Amino acid sequence: MHLSGVAKDLGGRRIVDDLDLDVASGELVCLLGPSGCGKTTTLRMVAGFLSPDLGNVVIDGRDVTTLPPERRPTAMVFQNYALWPHMSVFDNVAFALKLRRLPRAEITRRVGEMLELVGLTHHLRSRPAYISGGEQQRVALARALVQEPAVLLLDEPLSNLDAKLRVRVREDIRDIQQRLRITTLVVTHDQDEALSIADRVAVMNGGRIEQVAPPDTLYRRPATRFVGGFVGAMNSLPGKIENEVALLADGTSIAVLTPCAPGGTEIAVRPEDVVLAAGGTAARVQRVVPRGHFTEVVLEVGETRLRAYLGPDDPRPAPDDTAAIQFRRALSYADGQLIG
Ligand SMILES: Nc1ncnc2c1ncn2[C@@H]1O[C@H](COP(=O)(O)OP(=O)(O)O)[C@@H](O)[C@H]1O
Ligand SMILES: [Mg+2]
Repeated sequence: MHLSGVAKDLGGRRIVDDLDLDVASGELVCLLGPSGCGKTTTLRMVAGFLSPDLGNVVIDGRDVTTLPPERRPTAMVFQNYALWPHMSVFDNVAFALKLRRLPRAEITRRVGEMLELVGLTHHLRSRPAYISGGEQQRVALARALVQEPAVLLLDEPLSNLDAKLRVRVREDIRDIQQRLRITTLVVTHDQDEALSIADRVAVMNGGRIEQVAPPDTLYRRPATRFVGGFVGAMNSLPGKIENEVALLADGTSIAVLTPCAPGGTEIAVRPEDVVLAAGGTAARVQRVVPRGHFTEVVLEVGETRLRAYLGPDDPRPAPDDTAAIQFRRALSYADGQLIG
């Protein structure tokens, strides 16, 4: 699937702007960004519920930009599932196939296989109101998959589930996607969700895509200041890198332990890359917050505030202690763009 130069105005505002995105066959791509950045609008243009003002949508080599939803090889799972409350689970899943007037036996077989795949065979006759949120989500997924779409579209598929269930269901979604090798575009504002299920993540901000990359790359080398701050926690410090030293705007210098690109006007350091090390720069410990599998420490160096995550085996400082710190790794940015 391929989007090129897609743009959309709504309510007199440009909501999606000059958007390019490829999703390879069998790939799962997450469109990740803050609320209101244009994710749902983008997904609706792929599904055909909205038509772009500019640009093209191509699926399996065919330009579908002007086709209505029912003539596109896509199926969408909506954020609120949109199940029909008066229909059984079976009928919800069978609906699109009945519309297509497929033979009854084939409908029964395909719906049966799909309910088996999502583990809902025992709820065949239940109405949506009598099954759990996680099960409703799986019905919505089965209803999309049974249509055998070339591209599966999911809009915030986990946002109505509680935290524990969310982790389980996202693993289920990934398993099913892998088993069927189905090309999938998932919209989410949740970075954990995106990083844990996607082959690649496209980070969107203000109607534009800022970076498309595999989760590891996105985390380790955020292409823009926005991506670094949105995906994971980041210390953003005015200053520049010179000779493997971070020179902060307030005059403080902190050693960087791995080679990094020099220059820039802003230094970005992940909290887990702020390390306590003898001979490092003196920092005052402001706050120590146990976070379970790590300890969060808020530090003050000169006029700069920093956040560090310490591992379970690291010495744990106390408030008002003086700690010596270094950076394991640092990135430099100029005008919000990564250098190097
Ligand atoms: N039909 C519409 N008319 C006017 N503005 C809209 C319409 N649909 C969406 N918007 C606006 O477009 C922006 C992006 O919306 P949306 O794509 O739903 O964001 P996301 O899914 O990333 O949260 C929002 O500011 C929203 O208010
Ligand atoms: Mg949305």
